[in-house]
Amino acid sequence: MAFLLSSLSSRFVDRFDFKSKKRKKVTDFPLKMLWVIRFTGFFSAALVMIVLSPSLQSFPPAEAIRSSQFDGYLRYPGQTPAVYSLNRFSFRKASSFGNAEECSSGYRKSSGETTVCDPVLVHVAITLDVEYLRGSIAAIHSILQHSLCPRDIFFHFLVSDTNLETLVRSTFPQLKFKVYYFDPEIVRNLISTSVRQALEQPLNYARNYLADILEPCVRRVIYLDSDLVVVDDVSKLWTTSLGSRTVGAPEYCHANFTKYFTAGFWSDKRLSGTFAGRKPCYFNTGVMVIDLVKWRRFDYTKRIERWMEIQKNSRIYELGSLPPYLLVFAGHVAPIEHRWNQHGLGGDNVRGSCRDLHPGPVSLLHWSGSGKPWLRLDSNRPCPLDALWAPYDLYGPSP
Ligand SMILES: *[C@@H]1O[C@H](CO)[C@@H](O)[C@H](O)[C@H]1NC(C)=O
Repeated sequence: MAFLLSSLSSRFVDRFDFKSKKRKKVTDFPLKMLWVIRFTGFFSAALVMIVLSPSLQSFPPAEAIRSSQFDGYLRYPGQTPAVYSLNRFSFRKASSFGNAEECSSGYRKSSGETTVCDPVLVHVAITLDVEYLRGSIAAIHSILQHSLCPRDIFFHFLVSDTNLETLVRSTFPQLKFKVYYFDPEIVRNLISTSVRQALEQPLNYARNYLADILEPCVRRVIYLDSDLVVVDDVSKLWTTSLGSRTVGAPEYCHANFTKYFTAGFWSDKRLSGTFAGRKPCYFNTGVMVIDLVKWRRFDYTKRIERWMEIQKNSRIYELGSLPPYLLVFAGHVAPIEHRWNQHGLGGDNVRGSCRDLHPGPVSLLHWSGSGKPWLRLDSNRPCPLDALWAPYDLYGPSP
């Protein structure tokens, strides 16, 4: 074992200079690690930790944020609301980031203001929910770490309760972003109870309204969930062609599509007839590339809301915000490579239910399901793949 361990780690060190700031190498490195995991299974968990530790060290000494902007409650699922002293528990400042020479924009030279309408920008939308804040911050961190031109990324943050702007600003001082308030009342009357409580948060439905919330000059957006990390350059996802489609996402045509809707739905032809002439496949709404121009033109928000109204009166599905997307878009989605949503890593959070990766390359790891890596790491019962989330975590006191 010692031999295997040392030969593997020396291979990593040979191929990847961890101290180097060259982003291409940083981008490749988790993919190679994942390869190791695939082929050696659980045994490799220990290896992952060892292999990861140099990259952990490459993060500069963290600086605690001692601000008072956040005097609300930080709640985590399964815990009673607890007041966190922000002097002790807060987010460390991320390392500074800059564009590589080959970036097309002039931002690295000019210090002038960027406007959200600049056509060179890559637009990413993420919700900032107090319960998933740690995940959102890790997601942002991962995107910046693996991007060749991180200064060309504009983040659109959707929030509902607390003003998190100062917290984001102190964690990522150079970040280009805007915070939007999403009024829970917009969807309050449209949400029906779903099987999983966590899926009923109004902010889960904010993605339905991106076309209205974001500035009209923003023509395309990548929507990302808060329980994922990106381990590749997000600009590759950004430039994916959607053809004539409005939404792009990895499709899963082998999944049993029937189970996403109730028997009542399938037996009522007025409802299930919506899929006539389509070849609907399941897709996950946690990673989507959205053409906002087409979305606005065809008012997909209204179409989604109509299905939510129907759901309120006659239960046609069990899950939360996902099924309306399937109803409106399944079969009309631009298929994106599966590497951009290695989903299901959350599993069902029952001991021993850790998930493995799907075959193939990985650009994005998604802990969908009820198990979240930060909770499992904190409880000292992590799944092997949770070690791939940990390097992006900025939560906690300054060491
Ligand atoms: C798909 O799911 C439905 C509903 O749960 C079930 O009745 C059906 O047998 C499943 N089909 C296959 C091919 O597994």
